[in-house]
Amino acid sequence: MDQSLTPKNVAIIMDGNGRWAVKRGYPRSFGHIKGTRNAKKIIQACSDLNLKTLTLYAFSSENWLRPKDEVDLLMKILQRYLKRETNNLIKLNIRFSCIGDLSQLPKDVLKAIDQSSQKTQHCTGMHLIFALSYGSQNEITQACRQIAEQIAERQLLPHQITPQLFESYLMTPAGCAPDLVIRTSGEKRLSNFLLWQCAYSEFYFTDTLWPDFKETDLKFAFADYSLRQRRYGKLSSGNSMPSKDIAAPSKPISVTSMTSLTNTYSLVSPQGPVT
Ligand code: FPP
Repeated sequence: MDQSLTPKNVAIIMDGNGRWAVKRGYPRSFGHIKGTRNAKKIIQACSDLNLKTLTLYAFSSENWLRPKDEVDLLMKILQRYLKRETNNLIKLNIRFSCIGDLSQLPKDVLKAIDQSSQKTQHCTGMHLIFALSYGSQNEITQACRQIAEQIAERQLLPHQITPQLFESYLMTPAGCAPDLVIRTSGEKRLSNFLLWQCAYSEFYFTDTLWPDFKETDLKFAFADYSLRQRRYGKLSSGNSMPSKDIAAPSKPISVTSMTSLTNTYSLVSPQGPVT
């Protein structure tokens, strides 16, 4: 497979757990449980597809406003996931970390995050990032505050503020701006997720609800991505961000038909075979 056509950094807004459950007459909590099982499968699939980073929007800063029962359940689910899955992450060589305002999380969740992060620190494969109690506007505001403090303390001069410097104050690690952002459940918005980091991301929206989003759907999203021409504001096409961290492709992306891509990814469209 031509690696330049494959996204390396992917972010997913896992939406639609509640609707999935309600549609079937179950409580919303069951949707979150199914959604977690699905996250486990998609994490493994992304690791198998050699992603560099996978960022999952697991709990937004606005999700605190949900009923206490639902928030408590989501916290329990996260804690249980980390306890049960850390050994598997190590087996898959996946490094785990979190971004967000972690100070708001219950102590036992924080402890589970710390343990999983430490235990997987040595892993050299995919970097799995959970955005937890995360909101991009808070992240950007916090970066501005830190920069302002440094200027006030004369450790930084205003003319030294560049996009690269600003980025270093954000919570996300360097070089992992998403190539592709996937949102399930038919909503077509970013909902305060990685606003700065998505400046040049490609977007893939699907009506499929998160618990139903399978590996085939993921591969279909990747195939769709590989047809995009990423120009970063220039006239010539390229499929990778020309930065220090990510080398530009040696040849421009060719316009390949979806049919041949289905062969590349050996997939069938979730809506049936692509013709
Ligand atoms: C959106 O569905 C989903 C969330 C707010 C939480 C996402 C969390 C999980 C999938 C479980 C934890 C994940 C991991 C990786 C352990 P929604 O409840 O907003 O659905 P709705 O829009 O249909 O109401």
